[in-house]
Amino acid sequence: MAVGKKSTAKDWDESYKNKIHSWNIDGPSPELVATIASNPSISRNGTALDLGCGLGNEAMFLAECGLKVYAVDHSEEAIKIAKNNYKQTNGDISWICSSIENLPIADNSIDFVNDRGCFHVISLKDRKTYVNEVLRVLKPNGIFLLRGSSISSDHWEEVNENSIHSLFSPEFFQISPIYSIRIFSDEGGIAGNLVLIKKI
Ligand SMILES: C[S@@+](CC[C@H](N)C(=O)[O-])C[C@H]1O[C@@H](n2cnc3c(N)ncnc32)[C@H](O)[C@@H]1O
Repeated sequence: MAVGKKSTAKDWDESYKNKIHSWNIDGPSPELVATIASNPSISRNGTALDLGCGLGNEAMFLAECGLKVYAVDHSEEAIKIAKNNYKQTNGDISWICSSIENLPIADNSIDFVNDRGCFHVISLKDRKTYVNEVLRVLKPNGIFLLRGSSISSDHWEEVNENSIHSLFSPEFFQISPIYSIRIFSDEGGIAGNLVLIKKI
């Protein structure tokens, strides 16, 4: 079955068990590398949270950069595979099987939140809860890197100028320009949007 916005944690588990993870990329995405390289405010001794970490390639890159990483996914199977791959990597990662709607992460504790392809599978009704969790865990001046599909489908809801500006209030967040990108995967990728959002 194809997973997406109506899928449960068990559906994602089945998908990972059957090695159906067409979104995966064998290493960190170029835009994550560029963000870390060009943002000296993201301290190498700081903390990072990878939301919907999947098989953990971006979390492992962040840990190798020196950040203390919390890698969260609600799929037990994804976390199991990621933990196993992580044995070959240096760095400090806590792998956490949890839903994003209720993160076991302290308030104001995270310097950098990363999301590649998770927010767009969160249903529209749950997006506000997701945003509140990002607001709660980020430190003031903390940065959130979001990438999601720029086109809705049966599997995800688009992430666009409107959805970003309506959910991330200017009272709490400073939003950078939104860039059109290709969200690469081992199977080609999809058209996406990228935005950097800073907590005020
Ligand atoms: C398209 S995959 C992207 C995975 C990874 N970020 C990557 O770039 O390969 C979306 C991931 O979000 C996870 N996910 C979806 N909804 C979630 C939720 N409510 N809480 C936690 N994880 C969730 C899925 O299990 C899946 O691993």
